[in-house]
Amino acid sequence: MKARTNSRSFASDNNAGVHPAVMAAIANANDGHVIAYGDDDYTERAVKLFRQQLGKDVQVFFVFGGTGANVLGLKAGTASHHAIICAHTAHINVDECGAPEKFTGCKLVPIVSADGKITVDQIKPLLHEVGFEHHVQPRVISVSQATEMGTVYKPAELKTLAKFAHDNNMLLHVDGARIANAAASLNVKLKAITRDVGVDILSFGGAKNGMMYGEAVVFFDESLARDFKYTRKQGTHLPSKMRFISAQFEALLSNELWRRNAEHANRMAQLLARELEKISRITITQKVESNGVFATVPAKHIPALQRKYFFYVWNEAISEARFMTSFDTTEEDISNFVAHVRKVVG
Ligand SMILES: Cc1ncc(COP(=O)(O)O)c(C=O)c1O
Repeated sequence: MKARTNSRSFASDNNAGVHPAVMAAIANANDGHVIAYGDDDYTERAVKLFRQQLGKDVQVFFVFGGTGANVLGLKAGTASHHAIICAHTAHINVDECGAPEKFTGCKLVPIVSADGKITVDQIKPLLHEVGFEHHVQPRVISVSQATEMGTVYKPAELKTLAKFAHDNNMLLHVDGARIANAAASLNVKLKAITRDVGVDILSFGGAKNGMMYGEAVVFFDESLARDFKYTRKQGTHLPSKMRFISAQFEALLSNELWRRNAEHANRMAQLLARELEKISRITITQKVESNGVFATVPAKHIPALQRKYFFYVWNEAISEARFMTSFDTTEEDISNFVAHVRKVVG
């Protein structure tokens, strides 16, 4: 049973509220009339900030949510006879209700991954039927940064994937719902894990890092963006009151708010992992490199734990749970939760 109260938990970074600076930006933008659909000063300023972070020639399009960003970004780079290669744990593979397949027509080819990451060696065998009309044609490598398992690709790993993709007439797509957490974890600029390593298409996350809603599709190659305004409209993701997404991004990308929020969430995940590790019946199962902590918890205790702190069981077979921290997680939240875990699990 999911707790229905507003109690703070570790179920998802989506469960957090909105950062006060973002909320203030929404309120400030609520001033008079501006032209709809993005032809406004808020959007111009937000796009400028994206260009400062990611490169002056990037093409940026705001959309309502992360699934939409992934689906539409992937559609821009594919035709329906293409294959999109991803980790089996990828959000596009397991958490988007088949939307990428439905809207792109492409076949998703998942690679089994222990830590949410994929490598060139795993992709190579999938390229053996290139040019053969009976087979879907690999066109996109899609990775998540940070991954759904809380791990993070190093810049060199992304560079290797991008080079391999480009050498084989493919594109590198990054589901960056948590790109801020990854950049904060690596202590690098956003550009160092996108533009500088050869990413072609990026879904840039906002909601998990303090925004109310809104994500961006970023193209590093202008030609991919050529028809995207039509793709976005047909794909039902052209926000009429765009200014309210733009204003949020303006707040997030100003004064390094994106980095401060992500660093905080990551630090809280480290603390949570350290505290959980001290409980002998709990084992951390993944490297804690962003804002997620994965741990096995004795199955018999899960219902009692969830009654007070709802969380998701990620892998029932090994009784592995996922705990997420967010920009507003406090040390007190962690000590209260860990005390509860100790009481229940012993
Ligand atoms: C890795 C990843 N990508 C994308 C999304 C975006 O999903 P949504 O459509 O709910 O905004 C999520 C949300 O949980 C996610 O974890």
